[in-house]
Amino acid sequence: MLLPYLRKKLRLTGTKYGCGGGGCGACTVMISRYNPITKKIRHYPANACLTPICSLYGAAVTTVEGIGSTKTRIHPVQERIAKCHGTQCGFCTPGMVMSLYTLLRNHPEPTLTQLNDALGGNLCRCTGYRPIINACKTFCKTSGCCQSKENGVCCLDQGINGLPEFEEGNETSLKLFSEEEFLPLDPTQELIFPPELMTMAEKKTQKTRIFGSDRMTWISPVTLKELLEAKVKYPQAPVVMGNTSVGPDMKFKGIFHPVIISPDRIEELSVVNYTDNGLTLGAAVSLAEVKDILANVTRKLPEEKTQMYHALLKHLETLAGPQIRNMASLGGHIVSRHPDSDLNPLLAVGNCTLNLLSKEGRRQIPLNEQFLRKCPSADLKPEEILISVNIPYSRKWEFVSAFRQAQRQQNALAIVNSGMRVCFGKGDGIIRELSIAYGGVGPTTILANNSCQKLIGRPWNEEMLDAACRLILDEVSLPGSAPGGRVEFKRTLIVSFLFKFYLEVSQILKGMDPVHYPSLASKNESALEDLHSRHYWSTLKYQNADPKQLSQDPVGHPIMHLSGIKHATGEAVYCDDMPVVDRELFLTFVTSSRAHAKIVSIDVSAALSLPGVVDILTGEHLPSITTTFDFLTDADQLLSTDEVSCVGQLVCAVIADSEVQARRAAQQVKIVYQDLEPVILTIEEAIQNKSFFEPERKLEYGNVDEAFKVVDQILEGEIHMGGQEHFYMETQSMLVVPKGEDREIDVYVSAQFPKYIQDITASVLKVSANKVMCHVKRVGGAFGGKVTKTGVLAAITAFAANKHGRPVRCILERGEDILITGGRHPYLGKYKAGFMNDGRILALDMEHYNNAGAFLDESLFVIEMGLLKLENAYKFPNLRCRGWACRTNLPSNTALRGFGFPQAGLITEACITEVAAKCGLPPEKVRMINMYKEIDQTPYKQEINTKNLTQCWKECMATSSYTLRKAAVEKFNSENYWKKKGLAMVPLKYPIGLGSVAAGQAAALVHIYLDGSVLVTHGGIEMGQGVHTKMIQVASRELRMPLSSIHLRGTSTETIPNTNPSGGSVVADLNGLAVKDACQTLLKRLKPIISKNPKGTWKDWAQAAFNESISLSATGYFRGYESNINWETGEGHPFEYFVYGAACSEVEIDCLTGAHKNIRTDIVMDVGYSINPALDVGQIEGAFIQGMGLYTIEELNYSPQGVLYTRGPNQYKIPAICDIPMELHISFLPPSENSNTLYSSKGLGESGIFLGCSVFFAIHDAIRAARQERGLPGPLRLNSPLTPEKIRMACEDKFTKMIPRDEPGSYVPWSVPI
Ligand SMILES: Cc1cc2nc3c(=O)[nH]c(=O)nc-3n(C[C@H](O)[C@H](O)[C@H](O)COP(=O)(O)OP(=O)(O)OC[C@H]3O[C@@H](n4cnc5c(N)ncnc54)[C@H](O)[C@@H]3O)c2cc1C
Ligand code: FES
Ligand code: FES
Repeated sequence: MLLPYLRKKLRLTGTKYGCGGGGCGACTVMISRYNPITKKIRHYPANACLTPICSLYGAAVTTVEGIGSTKTRIHPVQERIAKCHGTQCGFCTPGMVMSLYTLLRNHPEPTLTQLNDALGGNLCRCTGYRPIINACKTFCKTSGCCQSKENGVCCLDQGINGLPEFEEGNETSLKLFSEEEFLPLDPTQELIFPPELMTMAEKKTQKTRIFGSDRMTWISPVTLKELLEAKVKYPQAPVVMGNTSVGPDMKFKGIFHPVIISPDRIEELSVVNYTDNGLTLGAAVSLAEVKDILANVTRKLPEEKTQMYHALLKHLETLAGPQIRNMASLGGHIVSRHPDSDLNPLLAVGNCTLNLLSKEGRRQIPLNEQFLRKCPSADLKPEEILISVNIPYSRKWEFVSAFRQAQRQQNALAIVNSGMRVCFGKGDGIIRELSIAYGGVGPTTILANNSCQKLIGRPWNEEMLDAACRLILDEVSLPGSAPGGRVEFKRTLIVSFLFKFYLEVSQILKGMDPVHYPSLASKNESALEDLHSRHYWSTLKYQNADPKQLSQDPVGHPIMHLSGIKHATGEAVYCDDMPVVDRELFLTFVTSSRAHAKIVSIDVSAALSLPGVVDILTGEHLPSITTTFDFLTDADQLLSTDEVSCVGQLVCAVIADSEVQARRAAQQVKIVYQDLEPVILTIEEAIQNKSFFEPERKLEYGNVDEAFKVVDQILEGEIHMGGQEHFYMETQSMLVVPKGEDREIDVYVSAQFPKYIQDITASVLKVSANKVMCHVKRVGGAFGGKVTKTGVLAAITAFAANKHGRPVRCILERGEDILITGGRHPYLGKYKAGFMNDGRILALDMEHYNNAGAFLDESLFVIEMGLLKLENAYKFPNLRCRGWACRTNLPSNTALRGFGFPQAGLITEACITEVAAKCGLPPEKVRMINMYKEIDQTPYKQEINTKNLTQCWKECMATSSYTLRKAAVEKFNSENYWKKKGLAMVPLKYPIGLGSVAAGQAAALVHIYLDGSVLVTHGGIEMGQGVHTKMIQVASRELRMPLSSIHLRGTSTETIPNTNPSGGSVVADLNGLAVKDACQTLLKRLKPIISKNPKGTWKDWAQAAFNESISLSATGYFRGYESNINWETGEGHPFEYFVYGAACSEVEIDCLTGAHKNIRTDIVMDVGYSINPALDVGQIEGAFIQGMGLYTIEELNYSPQGVLYTRGPNQYKIPAICDIPMELHISFLPPSENSNTLYSSKGLGESGIFLGCSVFFAIHDAIRAARQERGLPGPLRLNSPLTPEKIRMACEDKFTKMIPRDEPGSYVPWSVPI
């Protein structure tokens, strides 16, 4: 593939590996091809991970390095993404840059729709996309405008959505960058297409090219004749076009093709013919080109002829991302016949035909059900080629529609999709032809031919619809155990889509003949439109730096991320970007395939005999370990020898001289298991089996039992919350290099806790810690997933390196990473609330259970933090909560941004929402009534002052125009039966502190060199949050030195010993205080010298200090905040301060499909005195979007045997650009109090996650409105994540009642809810 070739062979490491399957966009490059016939050059974005090198003959590939670098000149795209703060960890940035760059090559002044579409195939886990969109907007013609005139308003129109304009005063700012300083985009300066490639293309050799290796042969015929000959010679060889189907099959399913045929520039395969009957499109035409062609045709031809083209276009807008659409061919799409193909259901109902060719001649076959089922009589013969596809025009009285619902609106395979076509007799409304096809509901695209046949001759009315639903549900039947699960949802979608089709056609008929056809019932009009959000705009309001501050002092200014430009040029070096070290080996793991089993035998002989394989380690090779962090490391966690407790547990480590060989050998390791009982997967099963880690934790305040006696009402309920995958873009990566003397070893790693890695490695190697040095340059996203898990991987890698005396690299593939490393803990929260009729909650009794997985890791700590933070912003005068970490047979879960709070907080908010429903009050009112009132006491008896909480709440109410919009939402809901809006606001009190003083200590080392430059080192890890940037701001303020004189190289146990892990929102807080301390020590020492020569430079002072033998190096130290908690008494002072905030979100849901659109979010945060507003807002919104994903679309699926299905971006959906709120307004509360934190700032890394639940409760509110209208009884209990499936199934109606239901226990479900 192109990706390893670029990275390993050409050492162009700007292009990143994120998933290897086309799903993340980190590997985006621009491919340019010259067409000698049209004389045009086509530039398109492509995923290097799926692009075979051999397919690139004659093409030009541009990588991020090719468009600009700090050594030459950076490209405006690179500059603007960096300066608009569109990078955090920076791992996704080169891919973003290349997607945008390619767009600009084709459209130098793109529209906003083009921009959003261009980024549809790129994922970012850090930024929340808003700053990236803002950077992109600077290239638009009218960059200030959303360019949306939906509903007749655009962002520049006053009073959109009732939002009062923010007033720009002296003290607040609305922009984090200044456009004036940007380099202009000058298309004439772009790289030209290499003339030699043009000449080559013009000369077009008429001979097949063959590339070969010992395992594979790649044949590239250049004429149709040669192609057919190759197909005769190798009938089983696939015809690879875009490789987006064959590639993933080879990679993920292990399918091997010894010969591949790849036609190159064969004109006949690229035809675009307009005939009398329709359009003929060549099989090699890319899906992106199909989209453009259809868009053109639909503009030119009358609508009655283009029904099918409109429907295809609709699906082409959301099918995959632009990279895949540009690579994939129409022929490849049709022939691969994916069960969830978006286009095949449409093509199948549209009487399309396929033109085939072989040496025997031409023939035509229909694209029908038999073809889709691959019936031999209706399929291509092995030696046949698909040349083109005929897509007929539609006729008058013929209508075609397309439907799909996916977990995410864009770039996600459909859960169910459908193509529907009906043709009536001339003006009589009688069905003459009807054709309905579904994808996602079986092993192939399914056509409901029998049902359609039975409906012919019937008039288009409600009785027909009713009969159609019943017939189709019968014909398109899905067993309860169908692969992919979501069976009832799928059944419901089958009929819901049909209903939408019925309405769409009825409306058109009415438009065509208003006299004969009845109007749609007004109630049904709202079913018609799809939810789409394509235009985004945002505002920010933050406080300017203190005007009294020195002009050179950067604190309080929106300084760009220190590595921003390097992220954007691809020069920033991540672990796997480090060059290969001499004699380097690669290590990969073999993991358990059973959830609970005895290991009977491990046979490594076949694997060991493969060429290049150096060693295979099992648990027997590794010594037992002890570390200072024993609680984090179960000895069994290294490599298991006797027993496995979860799928994905490490069993062997295979070491070979290349990655390919190591992975190949790993597949040859044979492990025989004997299954053991019990297999505990869910929290409920753990409770049943009393499978808990010790101890149970409890927090109690007031007298709960007594309080229950005096309350008006009591309710009991529970909520289940699913886990979350970290999905950091850079997978776990490490390179271990033995130094060759004194048993010294260097570990270069992407990790949050270098000290732990040093410790565990030293233990495994049986050397003292001073021999092991751990270095972290930067981390491509971590979110808690690189605290403990990395340690085990690094220790094993170090053991291998030490054993063989050779460097060893270990880079996990995305699927391995997700499987092995666990994620956020799923939670079960049970609550019993005693409350008064006015909404006051007087007693709350709760139980928290988390699904810890097979090993303890940090699970108990997560439970503890959950208990300490559960009351969120509320004063519950009598509160009891007990918590258990459940031991199950799942991969061990670990820290993830928020650490228990997102789960504990949701449980409390769910309880409050239910109390509100019982009292007949809006949830916001009950939230307000129960909120802390200024000076108060927490359940662990820590004093707090919540003035800023109230302030945030009030400000959020005001800026979001909550009352006005609540009324507007209610009005909308009363007028729309099938669409509902919801509005919800949640407060936030996020405690900051680690529970012990020692956990908060931090150190720094600052050197001044004789040329006046400064090197800062501290114990914090740069993982995107910008801690290094903030540290340089601190040093710059303290030393009164320009930022440009200060440098920071990375983090290492060599310079700062005994570091605490970077996490818990306090990395900048704690290390900043240490840096400040070091700088102040230096200043103190240098004071006499500076005062002797106050006008001198740092170079003068450094030299003078040196001459006077004054040390120019100082350590700084911060001992940690006062922090303690006594679990015996449940009292203490665990937290130093609290971050307050509030968020108000509005959504719209489609009750028929379960889709939702995030309309608007307003966030108000109390950030104290922001050290860097750009970084702080980045943390807030990045976390908010991650939280939104957690509570709405991110869903992990496990088989009943405990196997994780969702192991990559194609199955697990994190928010993409299409998910962010159309409007996002963030404002900081004016700072009000000085504190003893770093310059009175607050740590903001984690808190924003929880605000994502405002979207959860907005959806909850919308569902409530739907249910209320339908007269459905309460209480409404909705689990998290609130996926399209849950939304649809909660909006019960005649369709959900119509579907068949399976008796629980009568089938084995595809997945179990964890
Ligand atoms: C990340 C990702 C996201 C995706 N999302 C979606 C989505 O949302 N919706 C959707 O519908 N699909 C989606 N897909 C699937 C995608 O549409 C198909 O993979 C693609 O259309 C296949 O086209 P290709 O040219 O790459 O096929 P290839 O992989 O090149 O070939 C596929 C098959 O077609 C055969 N073939 C190709 N051309 C010919 C020919 N001329 N004659 C005979 N046989 C031929 C080959 O032999 C091979 O068996 C996604 C794929 C990826 C990787
Ligand atoms: S690495 Fe290629 S798309 Fe993810
Ligand atoms: S900045 Fe996008 S993934 Fe980190």
